[in-house]
Amino acid sequence: MTNEGMTEIAPAKGKLGVLLVGLGAVSTTFVAGVEAIKKGLAEPIGSLTQMGTIRLGKRTDNNVPKIKDFVPLADLNDLVFGAWDIFPESAYEAALHAGVLEKGLLAQLRAPLQKLKPMSAVFDNHYVKRLNGTNVKEAANKMELAEQLIEEIADFKKRNKCSRLVMIWAASTEIFMKQHAVHCNLESFEKALRENHRSIAPSMIYAYAALKSGIPFANGAPNLTVDIPALRDLAEENNAPVCGKDFKTGQTMMKTILAPGLKSRMLGLHGWYSTNILGNRDGEVLDDPESFKTKEESKLSVLEYILQPEVYPELYKDFSHVVRINYYPPRGDNKEGWDNIDIFGWLGYPMQIKIDFLCRDSILAAPLVLDLALFLDLAQRAGMRGVQEWLSFYFKSPMTAPKLYPEHDLFIQLMKLKNTLRYLRGEDLITHLGLEYYD
Ligand SMILES: NC(=O)c1ccc[n+]([C@@H]2O[C@H](COP(=O)([O-])OP(=O)(O)OC[C@H]3O[C@@H](n4cnc5c(N)ncnc54)[C@H](O)[C@@H]3O)[C@@H](O)[C@H]2O)c1
Repeated sequence: MTNEGMTEIAPAKGKLGVLLVGLGAVSTTFVAGVEAIKKGLAEPIGSLTQMGTIRLGKRTDNNVPKIKDFVPLADLNDLVFGAWDIFPESAYEAALHAGVLEKGLLAQLRAPLQKLKPMSAVFDNHYVKRLNGTNVKEAANKMELAEQLIEEIADFKKRNKCSRLVMIWAASTEIFMKQHAVHCNLESFEKALRENHRSIAPSMIYAYAALKSGIPFANGAPNLTVDIPALRDLAEENNAPVCGKDFKTGQTMMKTILAPGLKSRMLGLHGWYSTNILGNRDGEVLDDPESFKTKEESKLSVLEYILQPEVYPELYKDFSHVVRINYYPPRGDNKEGWDNIDIFGWLGYPMQIKIDFLCRDSILAAPLVLDLALFLDLAQRAGMRGVQEWLSFYFKSPMTAPKLYPEHDLFIQLMKLKNTLRYLRGEDLITHLGLEYYD
């Protein structure tokens, strides 16, 4: 399948403002990383937009440009950062507090990081229990809070002379919420905003403000947020691309690498037990059972979708899947994730796999934030709007069209992403059929 016309993509001219909700470990590691890369202090490791390549044409053509040379992406030097947080500390202090990056490196980035001071947040303790901050907006109702955000967004754009903006939720995980009747359409959603309805979480107010302003929105946490009909409709209406939920990093990334491999070989699964220790603020918030429930739902769903027990009952019916997160302060951001996987092979003989992943949460998440900012901006310039399934690659619970199941297999997700880029540029899609080499 080719895209005969080749999609018209507006050039990435001018500054791109990246608005971060939450200026914690992930956001500060992302901003500091971009500043370090711009100064030539580090390489953009983990970022597909910066380091990834894309094969075009046949294997024999030897045509493998870098992704950033193939599609017009914003340049790192054109990025400007804005943020909201319930704590007033600058990105420099917040990064020191997060303790992800070395003090020596942060000292070299002090000037740009100190300049990034968070705007006051839309926050309500009901939705995130373990946090209390002072840098919080006040208003008569949720609609007024949204209007304050919309004004701030417009002001940020003007002050920083940005030609485009994107917004990314990298704030704490909110309590578990199910879709409510007020989420069903924009009218009922706006009425609920004015009436301060409980079913409108702060993350939804940010998403509403972004989409009202025609700005793309990505949700890096598992909260429901933009994954409701009212906001999906608003995204379509205002030509804004959206994607989410929950950055796919550590343990779940490993799961979506391994599980497709086991299934490819028709190896069965009795059970998969995953446990983590982590000691950052994210871990502290997730220690609250209501926030953990949101995360748990997101982490549990991947295996069911990948292994398809209804299609392969002999292999995957009734496998046991347990996920635990334990808040353990000494480890800070340096999480340790253990997996015990009980598999079975030929004639039902059991085997075990053990994984001990000593990972760094924010080091894995930061390049995802960069890629999402650049790809969402590209999508908007290419006239794409609404749910961006091709960005599933980055998420634990990818958003899809209603009634469509999500693809969780990391390699299918990567193929989907690259084929979307080929499609935009009018190149042949790559199916890996390969028969053409044997004529
Ligand atoms: N690091 C990863 O690998 C990873 C992976 C998937 C998802 N996530 C999610 O990304 C989010 C950020 O993770 P983190 O490690 O940076 O957490 P963090 O606790 O260090 O940072 C979150 C920040 O958000 C702020 N905040 C909370 N509610 C807010 C609101 N309503 N408005 C503005 N600011 C608000 C907090 O004050 C805090 O500074 C979390 O929800 C986490 O679950 C992280």
